[in-house]
Amino acid sequence: MSVVDDVKGRLDLVDIVSGYVNLQKAGRNYKALCPFHQERTPSFVVFPDTQTWRCFGACGEGGDVFAFVMKAEGWDFGEALRELAKRAGVELKPLTPQQVDQQEAAGRLQRIVEEAAAFYHERLLKARDAEVARAYVRSRHLNRATVDTFMLGYAPNDWREALQHLQQLGYALDEIVEAGIAVHHEEKNTTYDRFRHRLMIPIRDGRGQTVGFGARALDPAERAKYINSPQSPLFDKSALLFGLDMARRAIRETETAVIVEGYMDVMQAHQAGFQNVVAQMGTALTEPQLRQLDKYASRLVLALDPDTAGLNATMRGLNVARETLDGDRAISFDPRGMMRYTGMLEMDIRVITLPEGKDPDVLIREDPGAWQALIDSAMPVADFVIRQGTAHLGENASIHEREAAARELLPILTATESDLQRSGNIQALARRVRIDERTLIEWTQRRQPARTRVRPSIREQRKQAARPAPIPPVGGPPGQSDLREGFCLWLMIQQPERLFAANRRLRELQAGDEQLAAALAPLCAEDFRRTDYQAIFRALEDSLYRDEAQPLEYLMRVLPPELWDVVEQLQVAPLDTFSRLLPRPLVTELQSILREKARINALPVPDEGLFIQEALTLRLSRLERELRELYFLQEEAEREGGASGSEFAAAIGVHVRARGVLTRALRQLRSLLRDM
Ligand code: UTP
Ligand code: MN
Repeated sequence: MSVVDDVKGRLDLVDIVSGYVNLQKAGRNYKALCPFHQERTPSFVVFPDTQTWRCFGACGEGGDVFAFVMKAEGWDFGEALRELAKRAGVELKPLTPQQVDQQEAAGRLQRIVEEAAAFYHERLLKARDAEVARAYVRSRHLNRATVDTFMLGYAPNDWREALQHLQQLGYALDEIVEAGIAVHHEEKNTTYDRFRHRLMIPIRDGRGQTVGFGARALDPAERAKYINSPQSPLFDKSALLFGLDMARRAIRETETAVIVEGYMDVMQAHQAGFQNVVAQMGTALTEPQLRQLDKYASRLVLALDPDTAGLNATMRGLNVARETLDGDRAISFDPRGMMRYTGMLEMDIRVITLPEGKDPDVLIREDPGAWQALIDSAMPVADFVIRQGTAHLGENASIHEREAAARELLPILTATESDLQRSGNIQALARRVRIDERTLIEWTQRRQPARTRVRPSIREQRKQAARPAPIPPVGGPPGQSDLREGFCLWLMIQQPERLFAANRRLRELQAGDEQLAAALAPLCAEDFRRTDYQAIFRALEDSLYRDEAQPLEYLMRVLPPELWDVVEQLQVAPLDTFSRLLPRPLVTELQSILREKARINALPVPDEGLFIQEALTLRLSRLERELRELYFLQEEAEREGGASGSEFAAAIGVHVRARGVLTRALRQLRSLLRDM
């Protein structure tokens, strides 16, 4: 039995959930107001028999005990495993010596950074030579409580002090360099402090562990205003949000995260009581950052500095971007990106523009009320884009000017994955540029075909005509479901990009029907039943959005050691494990390919179709599981009190329709694969 199963076996979901919400017995199950969204009638159900829970209301979340605590506490899988194992009295597996070394090295680096933070902090508070820094802190109106909670510090104006301090604590030179505190100069063969005469701002990850620094110059003549810790596995700026550890709670409570640009902005905001504020630290907002926020927030407010954010420059740059951008991989956070995320993460993304020349830092200090008012009046990102992109059009703008503006904005405004939003955006643009909506729609359609093609070209079809196709049965016997999930992950480990194809297909299947949007949403961790597979899927998804070249290495880096075996099993014995899912001829062929060490990329079948098939099958099984729950609840409600079963009728209807869509799509896919 895996550790995960062991932990689950010893815990009672009802017990755990009761610690968070007030559960009421309802027949065999328990009900409560959903802790994850606002509601008046309870639609959150715990099923003791299957040890699962689900919200049948607006948020539609569900899963096992792991999914519950991860959601409720904002933990990642590793954290959830540690905490639940503790609660269950399960000892986590001792690590192999190699694993111990690896973990220890990572732990040591992190401790070096913590020690450095303590050293700098102490200096700021006590050292005589830190008076300049203390004066600076005062001049920025940061009070003592803020200095303490953010653990601000001072790096002395010296080449060795931090280094020597850490060496005295027993750390080696190369470790101190690796942790980013010191720099090694090859030619001169010397090592010296990276940060000198600067205000030190520790940067912590979402869990509150210090992983690096932002260091602000105190000398105005200094060229670099900020120096940050160098990029490393420990300090990955693109996945960190400054202030998140302290903002987590407020973000969850308000369901809103406010994103500003800088360290000072965050500190000033928190000091003034606006605690749901985090900073992207000057770079473009990235997908991993957004996904962390997505865990707690349904609304994002971007506080963009009108000049430095370069919104105008970004909009101008879009023409270039449009040509080169592979629509699925846009990571940087331009307006088009925002649009996409609005649909993809189902997030309400809003924008505020700050008054010219005013950072949130200054604004909040001068007038906290004005800040609050700005946040409250934040504009949906689409409106914002339209306003920015048409600001230059005067009352009497010619049709040519208006058309040019519209053509520029359309691709941005239609980048969302929600059809409802897309048509809303087009409508708004039509009003603004006074061009008929249908004309605009036509313009968007003319540019589409390249991206939405699913059917392989005739040439590809011919090429593959003689090949056997894998056609596992839809659903399959229950024992196969683990296998299927594993197979899906296996395909993804080989080539994570396959996920995009499957998600595109799911989106197409929605066919503009908003009711089906949730049931046919992109593949997600919840489509997997096994808890460990869910965690692996999430990590794979992250690796994809981070553009990790080595998904496997990434998995080993971010997953807790308890899952390494699982990943390894997925990786090493694929054919023995999965051959049951595949037709005999394909297996033979695969074996010979794998013997030649080729990857599954060389699979002699349209493997994109294969993965899509697996993904749709997983989703179908999940819908069927949910349907069973729904029918059960409906029956029970009817038995108890007559009419109240109707509350499930709508959800059942949508599920049944989605099931039909998926079944038909799978049938079509199978015949497509067979006919080649
Ligand atoms: P800003 O230049 O707006 O800095 O850059 P700031 O936070 O307002 O700082 P003050 O108020 O001038 O002291 C925004 C953010 O961009 C990153 C930092 O995270 C900064 O907070 N940045 C900026 C750098 O990393 N390096 C730089 O040289 C400048
Ligand atoms: Mn500033």
